[in-house]
Amino acid sequence: MACHGNFLFVLLSLHLTLAPLARSSMHTVDLDSLMPADNTCSSPEDLKESGPDNLSLQLVHRHGPCSPLDQEEIPTHEQILSQDQSRVDSIHHHVATASNRRKAYGPLNSLEIPASYGAPMGTGNYIVSVGLGTPAKNFSVVFDTGSDVTWIQCKPCVTACYSQQEPIFDPTQSSTYSNISCSSSYCDQLDTKGCSGSSCLYGVQYGDGSYTVGFYAQETLTLTSSDMIPNFRFGCGENNDGLFGKAAGLLGLGRDQTSLVSQTLGKYGGVFSYCLPATSTSTGYLNFGSSSLPTNVKYTPLLTNSDTPTFYYLNLLGISVGGKQLSISPTVFSNAGTIIDSGTVITRLPPDAYSALRTAFRQAMTRYKTAPALSILDTCYDFTGQSSVSYPIISFFLSGTKVDLDEAGVFYVNKPSQVCLAFAGNSDPSDLGIIGNVQQRKLNVVYDVSRKVVGFGPGTC
Ligand SMILES: *[C@@H]1O[C@H](CO)[C@@H](O)[C@H](O)[C@H]1NC(C)=O
Ligand SMILES: *[C@@H]1O[C@H](CO)[C@@H](O)[C@H](O)[C@H]1NC(C)=O
Ligand SMILES: *[C@@H]1O[C@H](CO)[C@@H](O)[C@H](O)[C@H]1NC(C)=O
Repeated sequence: MACHGNFLFVLLSLHLTLAPLARSSMHTVDLDSLMPADNTCSSPEDLKESGPDNLSLQLVHRHGPCSPLDQEEIPTHEQILSQDQSRVDSIHHHVATASNRRKAYGPLNSLEIPASYGAPMGTGNYIVSVGLGTPAKNFSVVFDTGSDVTWIQCKPCVTACYSQQEPIFDPTQSSTYSNISCSSSYCDQLDTKGCSGSSCLYGVQYGDGSYTVGFYAQETLTLTSSDMIPNFRFGCGENNDGLFGKAAGLLGLGRDQTSLVSQTLGKYGGVFSYCLPATSTSTGYLNFGSSSLPTNVKYTPLLTNSDTPTFYYLNLLGISVGGKQLSISPTVFSNAGTIIDSGTVITRLPPDAYSALRTAFRQAMTRYKTAPALSILDTCYDFTGQSSVSYPIISFFLSGTKVDLDEAGVFYVNKPSQVCLAFAGNSDPSDLGIIGNVQQRKLNVVYDVSRKVVGFGPGTC
């Protein structure tokens, strides 16, 4: 009961100092909704029928009952979080070295492993199913806003393919496949390229040592039954290995010229949107085009860094916890810069910002028993025996808008006795901040590359 008293005191003082800001700065959630009990996939029927629109692809977490992939080797949360740190380290290294690199990767001479940038795949990713070829075959691919080149493993796997769920794509069985020639300007767009005979080679090596190399080619890509993209440029991977699980490849939704977004600028106007589901037992969506975007989306400018043209930069100005704006100098955010990324799991903040967030969050949670740290997550609680949990609402202030995170965007759940604040601090204040996929859960996130804005609204997933 002493704890309870403290808690009220914290609430009260927040309320007194910030009365105009926050009427209900705490949110109460049933513990069950953070931790679905059964391991079955439920996809909302109304979502399937009414949209968001008929250009919707179903998006699911790679591990869990909604995934089309075998769930034989599900990594532990420690493994997921440690792979997440590899991805972040790789992004930080890439950004820090970008200005003096400028596409100076060596040429590819063969199907050897290339030296080039790709954020590691980790395992915290989401999967969508797309069709490739004529007739179309379906493939489960990782969806990634942090890279550009789309690729799929291809027969005859000249050097090696890893094992995947669906049969490997065979270009000889498709009437619409063609190689891109070395002299094509499309070949020139690749960061890492080479020639085999007259055919263009592509290659990507990801920061964890995973890689894909093969022929750069054109093929019909089918996103939904009503939506085909002829002559879509992709990597037909003949030498691939790494942490891709059983996925057939990757859908590159970065901003650079080789990405799906850039290739379909005429068709979709540079617009796509998604909703990441709250847990691995429900489904989300990925949409292309602006035909039926909801109106309740608030936009913030999309910023550009010409040294790292793949990334979606946003202007993060501040954070509030329980309705109270943290006192963090805006230069803490502006010195580091911030991107939004679908493949990073946990949001990374500059050290001073994370420490202010953690302090405020802990102050609002003193009524709960603490639990040991989980890998990079140092603020964890034991909710055993609680039927509901009250936590302070966390909001991001982005240039021109405020985004309230969903409850699924605040917590990372290992088990009821270990539920952690899903944020981590960078070690170096100059390292890029990253808005990760946990914080994006259940939001409708809209990317509009033509208007140079990113929007946030409540998601319907
Ligand atoms: C997609 O939606 C549009 C507008 O609602 C409709 O006219 C069209 O018939 C739909 N297409 C399919 C294939 O359902
Ligand atoms: C591919 O997926 C679509 C949409 O889920 C489905 O309608 C179609 O039957 C699938 N095709 C094959 C060949 O499995
Ligand atoms: C593409 O290039 C590879 C390697 O040169 C070759 O084996 C294959 O037949 C080519 N495919 C087509 C459709 O030209």
